[in-house]
Amino acid sequence: MKHILVCVAWPYANGPLHLGHMAGCYLPPDIFARYHRLKGNKVLMVSGSDMHGTPITVTAQQEGKAPEEVAMHYHEINSKSIEDMGISFDLFSHTHTEEHAEAALWILETLDKAGHIEPRVSKEPYDPEAKQFLPDRYVEGTCPHCNYESARGDQCDDCGKTLDSNELIDPHPKLNPDAKLEFKETEHLFFKLSDFRDTLLAWLSKGKEHWRPSVINFTRNWLEEGLIDRAITRDLEWGIKIPRDGYENKRMYVWFEAVMGYYSASLHWAKNQGDKDLWKEWWENDDAEHYYFMAKDNIPFHTIIWPAMLSGCGLHLPHDVPANEYLLLDSTQFSKSRKHAVWIPDYLEKYDPEVLRYYLAAIMPEQKDANFTWEDYVTRINSELIGNYGNLLHRVISFAQKNFPDGLHADECTIPSLQEKVGETHNRVAEALEACKFKRALKAIMELSQAGNIALNEAAPWKQLKADRDSCEATLVTFLNVCRSLSVMMTPFLPTSSQKAWEYMGQEGRIEDYGWNSAVEDKNDFNLRPPLPLFSKLDMQEILEKEMPPEETNELANVKPEITFDDFKKLDIRVGTIANVEPHPNADKLWLIDVDFGGPTRRIVTGLRGIYKADDLMGRQIAVLVNLAPAKFRGEESNGMLLAAESGEVVSILHPDQKVDDGSEVH
Ligand code: MF3
Ligand code: ZN
Repeated sequence: MKHILVCVAWPYANGPLHLGHMAGCYLPPDIFARYHRLKGNKVLMVSGSDMHGTPITVTAQQEGKAPEEVAMHYHEINSKSIEDMGISFDLFSHTHTEEHAEAALWILETLDKAGHIEPRVSKEPYDPEAKQFLPDRYVEGTCPHCNYESARGDQCDDCGKTLDSNELIDPHPKLNPDAKLEFKETEHLFFKLSDFRDTLLAWLSKGKEHWRPSVINFTRNWLEEGLIDRAITRDLEWGIKIPRDGYENKRMYVWFEAVMGYYSASLHWAKNQGDKDLWKEWWENDDAEHYYFMAKDNIPFHTIIWPAMLSGCGLHLPHDVPANEYLLLDSTQFSKSRKHAVWIPDYLEKYDPEVLRYYLAAIMPEQKDANFTWEDYVTRINSELIGNYGNLLHRVISFAQKNFPDGLHADECTIPSLQEKVGETHNRVAEALEACKFKRALKAIMELSQAGNIALNEAAPWKQLKADRDSCEATLVTFLNVCRSLSVMMTPFLPTSSQKAWEYMGQEGRIEDYGWNSAVEDKNDFNLRPPLPLFSKLDMQEILEKEMPPEETNELANVKPEITFDDFKKLDIRVGTIANVEPHPNADKLWLIDVDFGGPTRRIVTGLRGIYKADDLMGRQIAVLVNLAPAKFRGEESNGMLLAAESGEVVSILHPDQKVDDGSEVH
């Protein structure tokens, strides 16, 4: 039995989680943790909301709320998403707890005592207008490494380097890009990261063959470039206070403190269990293995900065850091500001979490970025999860239950090659899961299921039934054993439907209690329950209509041809010249315009004020629907409607290409 600590990157509590977070960050460790629990290993899986620092204060300012309110709000939403997706944390905490602050201060003090912390005066960005220092995300500029123009004061999102504001080219305040920025002296605590270069290089060169090449190469390059000491306090009011004279208005740097969450949450969990020393089984045990799951932008914090801190405190170092690449949405990055995302709470309102777990595991961005499209989601769920896996289980269980309602018995397996394939798959899946190769593990399970379908068609128990009922029964027991094995192996990926299948097959208790090796125990007897299909087929058309973002849908595709030519002929649209423009007396946004159609003018109320100036309208020829019933707008009567094109913010009046007589008809 091993002790496995599963550490999962702490999501900022400044927005809901999206599919990218699930695929890259939360689903892989959950599959991993569930597998190890099945194996009988002792798993502790922790994470929580990252609540401090500028990611939260910037959002709070934008939303006009207090940082704590924003953080707690999203913490609740994200905790629920995580639970609803079946992510089985032992503790999903947050960084604004007393337990976390206490552990953080202990680590700071321990590093300080060991000589790794030093107060230094440095020049930091200062906004002279606002009379305040601007930490991290309040500063933007060009990345000195890759020239990305919107790098932040803490990190470049393009090349992934961590930064200090003073390294940026052309730094400016994020919230006020034209304002001047000064660099002014201020004192901060520094973590002497450079002390750890040799230790980390030595650590990295030993027994890291199992690390992903992208992670090890990235880390090695960083270390070889040399390590820069980092300021670990900021001029901010939101975060963990520093008990030190002169630091009353400073807080611990959010990254320095968030990574400590793995440690603090382990202690916190033990306290919740009523045995406050329980955490030591993972942290004071040389044989324990610590795994850190995250997306690639978090790599340096988990392979360099946190290991340096751990080593400075004499704490256990990571065993593996299987960081993922990104999940893209329709080939571009998920983006909160552009609203280019599929949010977990939205997804869960409409669809099944298990099905999403399958799809995200099948396309997991392990080696390279993966791409989510609704079309591919529907296709793969229908053809693989339902057409292959669900189909085998449902066909076997329902046919067997219907024809042998009082149970089935057979002394031995009728297709030894299939039994062999089960054993082989069981090993392959275990090996892949232990190496954090989740896609490969799922593929092996699906291959077994595919082989099961083919063998079932060949054995054709529905033909045997009449000719030789005993052989039919033996065949079905063979396939029930395959299905039972599949449900055990699928448990880390699809816990709910696996348990359902297990119960349909008349198995007692929870799969977890029987363990990973129960997948290769052959049963001679089955007493089945009438099964329902494990998944429901997805309707491509319906889902695409619902989910395709409007900017990508050709709106015309949804236009119904419901108007006849006679209907159209009823519209009397005429060209006229604007003869007079005046402001509406009671509405800032409306103009009153008089249009000349070659006779007495007609008064129209339009919403173009603020878009067109009176001078720009005067004398223009425009098109107006003139047989619209009159209507009053804020007390002024309008006798027609002017035609204009609208495209987002732009509103543009339609007018004839050449001068025509006023009163001309528009067809
Ligand atoms: N909040 C960070 C992010 O979303 C991740 C922090 S991981 C931790 O990128 F370990 F530092 F907590
Ligand atoms: Zn960069």
